[in-house]
Amino acid sequence: MFRDQYVESMSILLPRSNKTNSPFRYPGGKFYARHIILRYIPEHTRYCEPFAGGASIFFAKKYQSYSILNDLDGELMNCYVQIRDNVEELIGLLEGIPAQKELHHHYKNNFNPGNDLERAFRWYYLNRTSYSGIMKDENCYWGYGSKYSMRPENWPPHLRTVSDRLQGVELLQVDFENLIDELSDGFFLFIDPPYFGADQKKFYKCNFDYEDHVRLSNCLRRNSDRLKFLITYDNHPDIRNLYDWACSIDGQEWNYTINRTDDQRNGLKLEDGYRNKRYKGREIFIRNYQDYTGMPHIPLQPPHQLAAL
Ligand SMILES: C[S@@+](CC[C@H](N)C(=O)[O-])C[C@H]1O[C@@H](n2cnc3c(N)ncnc32)[C@H](O)[C@@H]1O
Repeated sequence: MFRDQYVESMSILLPRSNKTNSPFRYPGGKFYARHIILRYIPEHTRYCEPFAGGASIFFAKKYQSYSILNDLDGELMNCYVQIRDNVEELIGLLEGIPAQKELHHHYKNNFNPGNDLERAFRWYYLNRTSYSGIMKDENCYWGYGSKYSMRPENWPPHLRTVSDRLQGVELLQVDFENLIDELSDGFFLFIDPPYFGADQKKFYKCNFDYEDHVRLSNCLRRNSDRLKFLITYDNHPDIRNLYDWACSIDGQEWNYTINRTDDQRNGLKLEDGYRNKRYKGREIFIRNYQDYTGMPHIPLQPPHQLAAL
């Protein structure tokens, strides 16, 4: 008992990272759009991400609020829970394990976790060392590069910082509809569902079909008078139709990069081992509220004409 309290109080002294971003690399994550999205977020005391993934916006947001992170992917949510509740034990399992292609293969194909902590260890290791953090089995390839990936020696301090940030956060693994219908009044929701047009089946374990997009729109509409939400989506006419009842639909764009190692399925060899490629993210932001002056108020770029996107 005393020993546990002593170990807990001493853990405050262990090194932490000053990086407060997501613990995960996540396909479709909003890290590169975070500055634009933050400016849209209104003042709030209760915050929820029903499609959390890597939760880039939650981790970028300085606002202190009661928060819920939810995702239907159970392995992902178990990893969040272990980071929140058992971070030193998780770090103990990761300690001294290098980022190596052979180990990636081993943890992906041969390792059978015996408990939730080992499940989290496996998931975290594979996420940090896989191409773009893609965790769907058939597309989960080695993709670590020492020039651009976070090195294993930096994982523990970053995990501790993330664990501090997750204290008091409610972590759930349910379908979005069950969650949103049950939220108490006054929550602000940042909603980042799988894209409508792009082939999301390559990235996520849970399928999201046309009916799910319709279900999401109906669910938000029936809760719209008691919850505020911002949704980010690809600019597709069907989505604009599904949300023709919303208060506003803006187009936004931002730059992002993807690093590719020479070591993926097609065996392609790049000259310097990796390539840093720049892309443009273009999405629509749908919201059901007018005011968004709560966050540090930096003027937004004028929204783009939707037809031009
Ligand atoms: C675009 S990603 C979210 C990315 C996140 N905003 C970020 O910054 O990393 C969409 C997420 O929705 C989750 N998902 C798919 N179907 C779901 C459902 N029915 N209910 C809740 N989450 C679901 C997927 O597992 C995936 O993590």
